[in-house]
Amino acid sequence: MHDNKRLIDIEWEELQNLPLCDKSAYFNKDGRPLHVLTAQQFDRRMLDGLCSLATAIRHIAKNKQGMRFLSELLDHRRSMLYFSQPSSRTFLSFYAACENLGLKLAEVRDTSTSSEMKGESPEDTVRTFSSYFDLIIMRSPKQGFAERMAWLLSNTDRPVPIINAGSGKDQHPTQALLDIYTLQRSFERLGGIEDKTVVFCGDLARGRTVRSLSYLLTNYPGVRQIFAAPEHLQIGGDILQQLDEYGIDYSITEDFHAVKADADAIYMTRLQDEWDDGSSSSIGFDKSAYWLGGADLPVLKQTAIIMHPLPRRQEIGVEVDRDPRAMYWRQVRNGMWIRAALIATMFQLEPTVREYYFRNIV
Ligand code: NCD
Repeated sequence: MHDNKRLIDIEWEELQNLPLCDKSAYFNKDGRPLHVLTAQQFDRRMLDGLCSLATAIRHIAKNKQGMRFLSELLDHRRSMLYFSQPSSRTFLSFYAACENLGLKLAEVRDTSTSSEMKGESPEDTVRTFSSYFDLIIMRSPKQGFAERMAWLLSNTDRPVPIINAGSGKDQHPTQALLDIYTLQRSFERLGGIEDKTVVFCGDLARGRTVRSLSYLLTNYPGVRQIFAAPEHLQIGGDILQQLDEYGIDYSITEDFHAVKADADAIYMTRLQDEWDDGSSSSIGFDKSAYWLGGADLPVLKQTAIIMHPLPRRQEIGVEVDRDPRAMYWRQVRNGMWIRAALIATMFQLEPTVREYYFRNIV
């Protein structure tokens, strides 16, 4: 997985035709991410490293001296948040992660105020803006756009690392990383993520967080995945094929309430109706079949955790928020730490952070 291959040495079409796992060699260098584009570029060693670095950063940030240390790490670098698709939580999460590391920030959120309105291609826009920055974090409604920009900039004399903060209906690798960090922390004293049963519920056809997390879970032996969704919103065949290739134990069902008691983790998701395309994918089925309320709580395992990438609509009743098993607010905070760990790793600061941690905290 860690062969170093250079994006400059491959044609765009050829890159597109590679299986996702084979692309990793182009996105990683010496076992760390050069760009963060897909969940498939992370292996277990990288996941464990990121989680423990996130924990180190979380502890370092607890006092003023630690915050000062962190905020000097990248105060000579600038980052652009290019979000051409609505976002506030992921945007703010990255914003806070960058600020914690001292990065100077600029944001582009409304492309109607840029030259894209004068007919400039999004590729040219991002390339122009990239001249001012050392890191680009981007969210786009277009599948593969972050990958396209990483490839394109690699063929210029100023390549800039790119983080995919959500691309189309396809991938959301950093959300999956924060989900893994949350699972790891939750099951720390319960034997880890290994051998747990994860139930995904909701719009699994268009929820990109599930698609990325399902892959990352294949790094943990014995994990069973259950996909509970109405038939027309069931998880994509490409994901199931991937699970088959890895010999993962999974099942699909329309009956969420029949499987909720089996779960060690329940991952609820909202209806992604912004992707409705006239075939009215979001209507015509019983939403209560994919809802978790206070009345369901006694049925769940005592040690089960309840997750949601947010934003929530009607998938989880607010009365569930007070239950100690509700983990979705913690997920948000974990996101800030794992994103800071990811950026620190991309800038090769892992040894510096660990040294501070072992000298001052442990
Ligand atoms: C998710 C997304 O944008 O895909 N949100 C997020 O990043 N926390 C989930 C969603 O929008 O439903």
